[in-house]
Amino acid sequence: MKRIVLLISGRGSNMEAIVQACARELWDAQVVGVLSNRSEAAGLAFAQARGIATQVVDHRAYADRADFDGALGDAVQALQPDVVALAGFMRVLGAGFVQRFEGRLLNIHPSLLPAFPGLHTHRRALQAGCRLAGATVHFVTPELDLGPIVIQSAVPVRADDDEDTLSRRVLATEHLIYPRAVRWMVEGALRVDGLRVHQRDGQPQWLFVDDVEPLARPG
Ligand code: GRF
Repeated sequence: MKRIVLLISGRGSNMEAIVQACARELWDAQVVGVLSNRSEAAGLAFAQARGIATQVVDHRAYADRADFDGALGDAVQALQPDVVALAGFMRVLGAGFVQRFEGRLLNIHPSLLPAFPGLHTHRRALQAGCRLAGATVHFVTPELDLGPIVIQSAVPVRADDDEDTLSRRVLATEHLIYPRAVRWMVEGALRVDGLRVHQRDGQPQWLFVDDVEPLARPG
């Protein structure tokens, strides 16, 4: 039974999607903990209601990033994870943390990386006139929002899209690709070769959704 730890900062809809897929698809895995740097994170209530252990490691309680990274890393390590998935975790993690969990550490970013690392991805994609937008699940490396790409989703940008409508449609696809990526990790189905990630069974590492309607709650 593989052990999954999820890190959140807010709403936690990707966390919910992973927890639900794990149960529904009978993965040989368990979400053993949900950690947040913010005690107000709405997603904590969902985890608690499902009987998942939660813990808050508040970044404001630490003198600097290295101290926070150390405390967070110790809390994660105590759960003996096989997979650590950042699911809307809004703190940049330093090299020390990343190296501690490298190879086990995934993130989801709401853009088609390497385009638009950082914040306000949908606004920037609209401003840039992109005709496709999307999300990327990638292994975390010390550089922000880079690292070997596991799976990407894409949606067309509609003429009347604004930041809100576009982000909701992309988020609905995040809920499809992130569970898939975590499942592949649990199954040991990924092999990393430089920046390229190979899925053992040749399953598509992309998802194009033409007609997705946002199922997710507004953000
Ligand atoms: C998602 O758009 C994710 O890609 C980004 O932050 C958002 C988190 O949403 N990293 P949620 O907390 O999973 O609902």
